[in-house]
Amino acid sequence: MYAALKSIGAYIPKKVLTNKDFESMVDTTDEWITKRTGIKERHIAAEDELTSDMGVEAAKVAIHRAGLKINEIDMIVCATISPDYFCMPSTACVIASKLGRTNVTAFDISAACTGFIYALAIAKAFIESGMKKNVLIVGAEKLSSIVDYTDRTTCVLFGDGAGAAVVSATRKKTEAITDIHVSADGNYGDLLMTPGCGVKNPCSEKVIEEKLCTMKMKGNETFKIAVRTLTSDVVNILNDNEVSAEDIKHFIPHQANYRIIKAVGDALKLTKEQVVLTVEKYGNTSSASIPMAMNDIWESGRLQHGDTMLLDAFGGGLTWGSALLPF
Ligand code: ACO
Repeated sequence: MYAALKSIGAYIPKKVLTNKDFESMVDTTDEWITKRTGIKERHIAAEDELTSDMGVEAAKVAIHRAGLKINEIDMIVCATISPDYFCMPSTACVIASKLGRTNVTAFDISAACTGFIYALAIAKAFIESGMKKNVLIVGAEKLSSIVDYTDRTTCVLFGDGAGAAVVSATRKKTEAITDIHVSADGNYGDLLMTPGCGVKNPCSEKVIEEKLCTMKMKGNETFKIAVRTLTSDVVNILNDNEVSAEDIKHFIPHQANYRIIKAVGDALKLTKEQVVLTVEKYGNTSSASIPMAMNDIWESGRLQHGDTMLLDAFGGGLTWGSALLPF
């Protein structure tokens, strides 16, 4: 049995925060943000809108497009670093409940911006082993709830949103996910972290005062490792599967920074037409960024069934991964 990506869906919150808006919030300019990141605006969830709410909306679209009923979904995996609840219940369980699906396997995974690719790998493994038939994977983030809006080095980068996909069992090899690489190096954990509210620095007045539950990033060091790691990872997955860069119809990288995407695209000698860019309008939405980008090209008619896609992501942990698959 093989695992195939059946459908994609996304949910994008209505409220937009532009670079201009940030000029009155922190010491920054539209010019700096655009030049250094490629981001022009990002969407922000409503105050009462939870990560699970956005995940549910994206999931409904993906399930509908897969032509399935909710009770045909036998596993839900949610990748998120901004779960509704700190320890429990998992956001996947909340999503299952809001979708009206009980008696289902449901759990969260934490792999930061690489979360969607990790979730895809898990879905593939469960399906290929014969344990599951239709897996819903969700990447959903309300990053605005873990951003320090007084820290110019991080607040301009992140946005909210959700993406979802259905991965199903198939006997057709031509539909099968070709290969997935997922990796991590915990020695670089301090480059990107939320230091507070875990066991190491439990929630306290001091932790809240020092905003230790918000994202801290050593951006420049992360940038250099990201370019190096992503480039070697995509080269490896292409070589392992004897696929050339010209055969890739859509290179869909994690949308963190235009300069990172360009460096990896240039290293692979990809054309502009092959590279999918949504960072300008959504910013970095962590685990939601790849499915949101896939949904964009599907809805615009650019993504057609049979197209070969190369996914690529990098995030806190440090984690990274890539996936090669047909749509
Ligand atoms: N506006 C104006 N100036 C700023 C801003 C801002 N918003 N942010 C930083 N600066 C200043 C810095 O203070 C610094 O000033 P100094 O020279 O006086 O010290 C200067 O700009 C340069 O700072 P750098 O950090 O060197 O800038 P860089 O070109 O590296 O860009 C950025 C910063 C955009 C964060 C980049 O490093 C980056 O994208 N890094 C990778 C992020 C990433 O991929 N993260 C992984 C996924 S995220 C996840 O897993 C959740």
